[in-house]
Amino acid sequence: MLTVAVLISGTGSNLRALLEAARHPDFPARIVAVGADRDAEGLAHAADFSIPSFTVPYRSFESRDAWGEALGDRLDEHRPDLVVLSGLMRLLPASLVARYAPRIINTHPAYLPEFPGAHGVRDALAAGVAQTGASVIVVDDGVDSGPILAQERIPVQQGDTEETLHERIKPVERRLLIDVVRRIATGDLALTH
Ligand code: GAR
Repeated sequence: MLTVAVLISGTGSNLRALLEAARHPDFPARIVAVGADRDAEGLAHAADFSIPSFTVPYRSFESRDAWGEALGDRLDEHRPDLVVLSGLMRLLPASLVARYAPRIINTHPAYLPEFPGAHGVRDALAAGVAQTGASVIVVDDGVDSGPILAQERIPVQQGDTEETLHERIKPVERRLLIDVVRRIATGDLALTH
């Protein structure tokens, strides 16, 4: 059984979908911990599913490296086979990526390599593209630059706001994420740097 830790910053709606999928006895992965870089609303989902959670507040540390080291220590306590970044709005320091690579994956609300970074939905709208997308990637030292594991196109509709577009992207992200975790767990998908 693949053990998974999930890191979030926000509402954690994608986390909740993964928790629901993993609750089924035939799902080949189990969520063992949920962590956050702040007092994230989504930590409540972990409590709902009786999954241990922890917070390593980014702002309590003097440097990204120090934060990453503390976060790595908390992750290690749960011995996850896989770390899922599900709306974690912080770049991991290279030292933490090296500690877990290539076993860290990230969901992103755009069709990478288009529109990387913290504002994938806003940037796609600002660029006036007809379609954007959702991606699941392996985390490397860059910004959303790792190998792509799954992605799908999503049309931009006339009158879309950042919010309406993001709300249409998220269900696709959830489906891709759950499928990628399942395929990693069954050995159908091998992670590489
Ligand atoms: C998701 O769309 C995720 O891809 C995005 O934050 C959202 C979190 O939603 N992450 C990034 O933009 C990372 N660059 P949620 O908290 O409702 O799951």
